[in-house]
Amino acid sequence: MENSEIIDKTKVFVKKELSLSEPGHDFWHAIRVLNLSKLIYEKEIMGDFLVIALASLLHDIADFKFSGDDSLGPEKAGSFLMSIDVSEPVVSHVKNIIRNVSFHKGKTDFVSDEFFIVQDADRLDAIGAIGIARAFSYGGFKGSEMYNPDIEPRLNMKMDEYKGYRGTTINHFYEKLLLLKDMMNTNTGYEIAEARHRFMLGFLSEFFSEFEGLK
Ligand code: ADP
Ligand code: NI
Repeated sequence: MENSEIIDKTKVFVKKELSLSEPGHDFWHAIRVLNLSKLIYEKEIMGDFLVIALASLLHDIADFKFSGDDSLGPEKAGSFLMSIDVSEPVVSHVKNIIRNVSFHKGKTDFVSDEFFIVQDADRLDAIGAIGIARAFSYGGFKGSEMYNPDIEPRLNMKMDEYKGYRGTTINHFYEKLLLLKDMMNTNTGYEIAEARHRFMLGFLSEFFSEFEGLK
């Protein structure tokens, strides 16, 4: 099977798997991550594009925040890829990327060019205009307050704290979104992140002025 056919079949699978997901983690998130990965891949010229594309599309099919189980996503992705006869080394590499791509795991020992690209693409989709939209969408989904001047951001949360934590959406910018720029793996990722980061700072300053009734 051609790589493009494998990728198309995977899109159909992911669309079905994510049909009930909340708007910030839906099929379009997977497509945006694929497009960002492609942009980075074409500039950096590193890694195997099939692995990058499949991991981008499949990385969130069973997010632990919703499924409560860390191994479900990689297993589901692996069984699907085997069912369409993708080769074993590609399948295990994709599974490894999915296992390691999430933010809350913090630093991981797993390294590969393909992993670096997909992780940058996933993080880029959490910042900038899309990142702002996703944060408020997710915050609304969880019933968080948009902003509460009496609640301070909490930095350096441990995995189990992060899981049960429900702060405000504005605090989420300080707890995660503004930290992502300096966590980029590739130069291309960093350049895109810088512009998106600036946009978020502009948004926050506008938000606070309006919140306080200053304009
Ligand atoms: P990752 O995709 O790296 O695992 P998450 O699943 O935690 O990261 O986040 C996915 C999306 O949901 C991001 O856009 C993120 O900003 C948003 N999000 C996660 N937690 C919160 C929160 N507490 N408040 C608002 N948005 C959140
Ligand atoms: Ni994601």
